[in-house]
Amino acid sequence: MRTFNVTNPATGTNIGAAPDANADDARAAIERSIAAFPRWKAKTAFERGELLRRWRDLILKHEDAIARLMTSEMGKPITESRGEVKYAAGFVDWYAEEGKRAYGDIIQSHVATKRLLATRQPVGPVYAVTPWNFPAAMVTRKVAPALAAGCTVVLKPAEQSPLTAIRLAELWVEAGGDADVFQVITTGDPAAVSEPFFADARVRKLTFTGSTEVGKVLYAQAARTVKRVSLELGGHAPFLVFEDADIASAVAQVMATKFRNAGQTCVCANRIYVHASIRDAFVAQMATAVQALRVGDPLNEATQVGPLVDRAGLEKVAGHVADAVAKGARVAVGGQSGPGLFFAPTLLVDVAAGMRILDEETFGPVAPVVTFTVEAEAVAAANDTPYGLAAYLWTRDLGRAFRVAEALDYGIVGVNDGLPATPHAPFGGVKASGVGREGGRWGLEEYLDVKYVSIALP
Ligand code: SIN
Repeated sequence: MRTFNVTNPATGTNIGAAPDANADDARAAIERSIAAFPRWKAKTAFERGELLRRWRDLILKHEDAIARLMTSEMGKPITESRGEVKYAAGFVDWYAEEGKRAYGDIIQSHVATKRLLATRQPVGPVYAVTPWNFPAAMVTRKVAPALAAGCTVVLKPAEQSPLTAIRLAELWVEAGGDADVFQVITTGDPAAVSEPFFADARVRKLTFTGSTEVGKVLYAQAARTVKRVSLELGGHAPFLVFEDADIASAVAQVMATKFRNAGQTCVCANRIYVHASIRDAFVAQMATAVQALRVGDPLNEATQVGPLVDRAGLEKVAGHVADAVAKGARVAVGGQSGPGLFFAPTLLVDVAAGMRILDEETFGPVAPVVTFTVEAEAVAAANDTPYGLAAYLWTRDLGRAFRVAEALDYGIVGVNDGLPATPHAPFGGVKASGVGREGGRWGLEEYLDVKYVSIALP
C-alpha cells in the first residue's frame, strides 16, 4: 500500500503514515458509497440515530487518545484538543436526535380532490473535504448530519491531519456502522482524488471547509455535474470594542477567540477596532494578557499556544507582521518567528488601512489593533472586506448591540461573546466566506432535498 508521512509540527518528527489513495481508489470508494446509499436511506431515522449515539459514546470514550493524536498531527494544545473531541461528539449527539425531525408539510390544496405533500429525502452520496485546523469537529459537523439525513459519505481529510479522521471512521465501524456508509480516503494528491467525485453525477453533494481560494475551484468543479454544495470558507473577523464596553470582558474574550488554536480558525478575531477613548486601557490590559500566554510543546497540559501547522502558514504570519511594521505599525508584544514553526503571540498597535493584515486572513497568533472614533466608521471598516463569516462587537448599549449586529454583513455575530459556535446553532458565512450553514436544524437541511408529491384522489 502506498502511504505518505504525517509530521508533528511541534517537533518536525514523523508520527505515522496514512494511505496515499489515487484516482482508482477514489472511483472504488464512490462505487461502494453508491451501492450503500439505498440500504442506508432505507433505515429509519431512529435506527440511524441509534448508530450515531453509539458512535458518539465511543468518541467520548476515546477522548484522550483522539486528543493526543490530533495534537501530535497538527499542534493544537492538548487541552483544546480535548475540548474539540467533546465539540465533535456534540455534533453527533445533536444529529442523532435531529434526524428524527426531518419533517415534511401538508400544503392546502387548491382542488378538493387533491392532496399536496412536501417531503424531505436524503440528497444522495456526499463528497466531504475537511481542513486540518479542527481534525475531529469539522468531520462530525459534516458527517453526522449527512448520516442522520440518510446520505452516505466519502470524506477526504487534509494531508496535514488525516489520522484523526481515520480513527473516527474506525470508531464508526466499531459502533456497528457500515464501513461503506462512511468512508475516509486519505491522499497526498487531493486534486487527482477529487476529480472522480466531480466527474460522477451520482455523487450528489460537495461539502467543503477550507480556504476561499480552494473553495472557488471546488465550487466550479461541482458545477460540472450540478451538485448541491455547502462551502465554509475563509474569514477575516472584525472585533469592535465600543467606548461603553466592559474592557476586562472584551480583553478576556478577544484573547480566547484570537489565540485559540494559535489563531488558526476561520472565526478568529483578525482585526480589532477599539474606540479611541478606551484604546490605551484596552491595549495595556491586552498586552499583559498576551505576554502571559504560555507557548510551548502542545502536549504539555500548561501550553496555551502551540506551533503553526506548516512552513507556508508561518511565512504568511511573519509576512503580515513585517508588512505592517514596514508601514508604520508598532510591535507592542512578540513579533518573533521561531523556533521551528512557532510564532510568538503578537500584539500590533497603530495598525492602519493599506496594511496586508487588514486585507487578508492571517491564520496566526497576531492581534492587530486599529483605533476608531465613530460607530459608523467602525461598521464601514468591518464590512470593507470580501469576507463575511464571523464578527464580534462589545458594548453595554442594547440599542447599539442590535443596530451594529444588524449592520454587519456576516453570517455569525457575537455580541459580548467571543466564542459563539456550538453544535445546535447555524455556522457559516456570506459573501466570499461561503454557501450554506452547518450546525443545528440548518445543517440537516443541507443534506435533504424537498420532494413535492401531488396526489389526485380517485
Ligand atoms: C473553523 O474555524 O472553521 C471552525 C471554528 C469553530 O467551529 O468554532
